[in-house]
Amino acid sequence: MTSDDGATAPIDLRSDTVTRPTPGMRRAMAEAEVGDDVYGEDPTVTDLEHRIAGFFGREAAVFTPSGVMATQVLLRALTRPGTEVVCESDAHVVAYEAGAAAINAQVQFRTIDGDRGRLDADRVLSSLRPASFPYTEVAALSVEETTNRGGGAVHGLDSLRELRAVADGRDLVLHGDGARLWNALIATGEDAVEVGRTFTAFSVCLSKGLGAPVGSMAIGDRDVIAEARHWRRRFGGAMRQAGVLAAAGRFAFERQFARLADDHANACAIGETVADVAPEAVDLASITTNMVYVDTGERPAADLVGSLRAQGVLVGSMGPHLLRLVTHLDVDAGACRTAARRLGQLLR
Ligand SMILES: Cc1ncc(COP(=O)(O)O)c(C=O)c1O
Repeated sequence: MTSDDGATAPIDLRSDTVTRPTPGMRRAMAEAEVGDDVYGEDPTVTDLEHRIAGFFGREAAVFTPSGVMATQVLLRALTRPGTEVVCESDAHVVAYEAGAAAINAQVQFRTIDGDRGRLDADRVLSSLRPASFPYTEVAALSVEETTNRGGGAVHGLDSLRELRAVADGRDLVLHGDGARLWNALIATGEDAVEVGRTFTAFSVCLSKGLGAPVGSMAIGDRDVIAEARHWRRRFGGAMRQAGVLAAAGRFAFERQFARLADDHANACAIGETVADVAPEAVDLASITTNMVYVDTGERPAADLVGSLRAQGVLVGSMGPHLLRLVTHLDVDAGACRTAARRLGQLLR
């Protein structure tokens, strides 16, 4: 990739959060109709909230500045302080949110090991604490779709329904962290309304694979979202002329959702190219969305990150011997092939 001044930009596969707004998206942002959203007067924000809620067949949605805030307002709206949220051991809400839920919702987590970040309903059921004093009251199950640290793994509708049944059986809510729920929908072809209905409330991010610069949505029943809206205000996340951001989100949702299939194909191609020279380094069956994990064997992952950086390829390290490559809008098939070949040469 070459920038305007002729310099070659790195092939950045660290995350799908690194995308930049496309020219069309920038135009949509510049032309957005706006108003004061704290007064409920930003037509672009309101429109996006209606569209996204409607897409999932739910009553309401609220636009938040980040995925973390969407999760935080939902956990605060869905639980009471001093209760417990059950989630997978490597969940984003535990690993990457700086302990926010302990401060904001004042909940504790009970973490359960899963398979690539996915919770198993039987396992959850057998580890729930009894619902009697003096046990800590369990309030919620929280499930990530797709999984971040789990490498983009998908629970899918059947598994989500089983988790919802466990939650219902114990009168718990099922919270969804759907930062990459879009990728799951593309990978499975499942119906968004059916998937959206399994959660009590959930979030989606516009700023991951969809390619918007900012923005997430908390989605659910009207009363839950009204409560989440209050918490967004208390957390300082209510915005004024946010239509310029919502316009980017609307553009991303309308124009850049279906193309996630390209990211998934590119991830498979990366995996296959690396596996051609280092079959033991990649589990091809695990590449189901836009992430590729590469086992570096004896080689420290940090060394490979450095060597690739020197060759203009940016990748993430997820452990001492584990690399992660994430495909997205700003890296086309050719760039993915180039990155994979360079990585393959280092692993040979
Ligand atoms: C699964 C998951 N949830 C939530 C978030 C939070 O999103 P943000 O960092 O935009 O607040 C991320 C970010 O990568 C994520 O991967």
